[in-house]
Amino acid sequence: MNASTKAPPQRPPAAKPLSLLRAVGLAYDPPEPIVGRKVTLRVPDMADFEGWARLRGASRGFLVPWEPAWPPDDLTRPAFRRRVARYRQDWREDQGYALFVYRNEDGALVGGITLTNIRRGVAQTVSLGYWMGEAFAGKGYMAAGVRTLIPYAFGALGFRRIEAACVPTNEASVRLLERVGFTREGLARQYLCINGTWMDHTLYGLVKGDPLG
Ligand SMILES: CC(C)(COP(=O)(O)OP(=O)(O)OC[C@H]1O[C@@H](n2cnc3c(N)ncnc32)[C@H](O)[C@@H]1OP(=O)(O)O)[C@@H](O)C(=O)NCCC(=O)NCCS
Repeated sequence: MNASTKAPPQRPPAAKPLSLLRAVGLAYDPPEPIVGRKVTLRVPDMADFEGWARLRGASRGFLVPWEPAWPPDDLTRPAFRRRVARYRQDWREDQGYALFVYRNEDGALVGGITLTNIRRGVAQTVSLGYWMGEAFAGKGYMAAGVRTLIPYAFGALGFRRIEAACVPTNEASVRLLERVGFTREGLARQYLCINGTWMDHTLYGLVKGDPLG
């Protein structure tokens, strides 16, 4: 090869503008929905506001005894906008994964699932939370949602252990966790502040490879 036909030195390809924006946290592509047999899990956006506020409002008496206290403005559009922004930032930064649960047969929003308290490093552990709209409770939707999420959490998200905690008298939550395959691991005193009171919680764990129910 003489000097005139010599290939020019290879340069690294120019960074795409979107990758640069993503690298500094200014762009966000919501992940693809996670499709299960009975329900689909999807990252919420502002289009969910009215359905979410209606469902949570109608389920208030059903949910409040088992959840952290609701802020007074919780069901307002500005609070939902902040919620959506936080969910997206958490997702982008591997700080939390919040998903809404939609019924496959008609696309109705039925509830929500979260993965929070992420511990990477030598733990690779995350905490599972969930809620179901009262009108949709007891119909197998949350069991379907958790079963859909588990392979994603152990696969794409790379966790090794999923933890969950519930008040021992929360029969629906206890039954859900045991049904899906979580193992009861102990009792943590005054573990979470639920509806304004520090409550003891039963702790459950699911480790990658555990048989699922
Ligand atoms: C806990 C909760 C998310 C369960 O969701 P769900 O969609 O109703 O649960 P599923 O229909 O998938 O049922 C899962 C299992 O729990 C059982 N279950 C559901 N509701 C129950 C109840 N009220 N009492 C006893 N068992 C119940 C179901 O029968 C099923 O067990 P099975 O397969 O052996 O029949 C829902 O009841 C809820 O949102 N409760 C209020 C808020 C709450 O408790 N949040 C969690 C705090 S830890």
